[in-house]
Amino acid sequence: SKGGYDFFMLKEIYEQPEVITKTLKSRVDENYNIKFEDIGLTKELLENINKIYIVACGTAYNAGLIGKYILEKLTRIRVEVDIASEFRYRNPIIDDKTLVIVLSQSGETLDTFEALKESKKSGAKVLAITNVVGSSISREADSVVYTWAGPEIAVASTKAYTTQLVILYLIAIDYAQKVGKLSSENAKEFVKELFGLEEKVAKTLLYEKELEEISKHIIKQHSMFYLGRGLDYLTALEGSLKSKEISYIHSEAFPSGELKHGTIALIDDGVPVVINVTQDSLLDKSVSNIKEVKARGAYVIAIAKEGAENIEEVCDKVFYIPKVNDDLACFLSIIIHQLFAYHLAVAKGNDVDKPRNLAKSVTVE
Ligand code: M6R
Repeated sequence: SKGGYDFFMLKEIYEQPEVITKTLKSRVDENYNIKFEDIGLTKELLENINKIYIVACGTAYNAGLIGKYILEKLTRIRVEVDIASEFRYRNPIIDDKTLVIVLSQSGETLDTFEALKESKKSGAKVLAITNVVGSSISREADSVVYTWAGPEIAVASTKAYTTQLVILYLIAIDYAQKVGKLSSENAKEFVKELFGLEEKVAKTLLYEKELEEISKHIIKQHSMFYLGRGLDYLTALEGSLKSKEISYIHSEAFPSGELKHGTIALIDDGVPVVINVTQDSLLDKSVSNIKEVKARGAYVIAIAKEGAENIEEVCDKVFYIPKVNDDLACFLSIIIHQLFAYHLAVAKGNDVDKPRNLAKSVTVE
């Protein structure tokens, strides 16, 4: 049941504080040690790996991009992220020194499943991250890590995405520790911060009413832009996908610094630009990007961290997420995007849970 919510999507958005912690607890003990003994990612195996592929579709692909960011940052191992329907047909370089991570909420997406089988044939070790126990992908992979998001009914994925991020972060921290790139104290600190997300996500959800208001003014627009730098760009990709699939408003996500290489020509009076500016080290650069689009008439909505300076004066609206380590800000900014997309769709009178032309799991090629 929808538990009193108008749509499953909203219910699932609100379940995130709880399922993030539940997913963490499934793999972390009371002393903040990560437990991955059962998946065979031993120190010896990891030391022998020279490349990781993350393969997925749609929102899971967007989660994979963040997985690459954090895995490369912590482990210094090369990671490539591939869309399953591309990976399958481009003869990727895979051997027994390759780890393939397939990400799929349903565990039934055909292209992802086929990519898994191909990878196994080529000698790679395949780890699946999925939300459905006993799914095709979980049965075929060498090992499985489950997200504990609970059933996701709405076509637009929300809690599956954030719980996939949780697992990817845990894998990155565990991996970095095993190959000697992260001390056990620092690993524990990081894990503790992940546990802190429950409360911070809950606080971020309090913006719902404000997002509902703002959405009403934006539904007349034909096109929007989502911007960000670094991790913020990766969140922009998922924010844009979310609003496209349920609000049917065209949007594009761009790295903030890339806009002026062509796409800024599309910015005109009133065009909404949603920009993530949660990365402290990139803040000044992002402020310049905001000024560039403002000067062309854009209506700028920013998502920044509490305490970020000089943002308000250059934007039309700022949503402040709770203070958090830069690497974890993506868990909070995506909440704003999900609620924004949801309210755009509601304001347009769309069937939020069953958007046109889409199915929950894509079992055709
Ligand atoms: O079940 P999967 O995670 O394999 O599904 C992948 C995509 O089809 C899915 O994430 C899709 O993009 C969602 N509708 C996005 O909200």
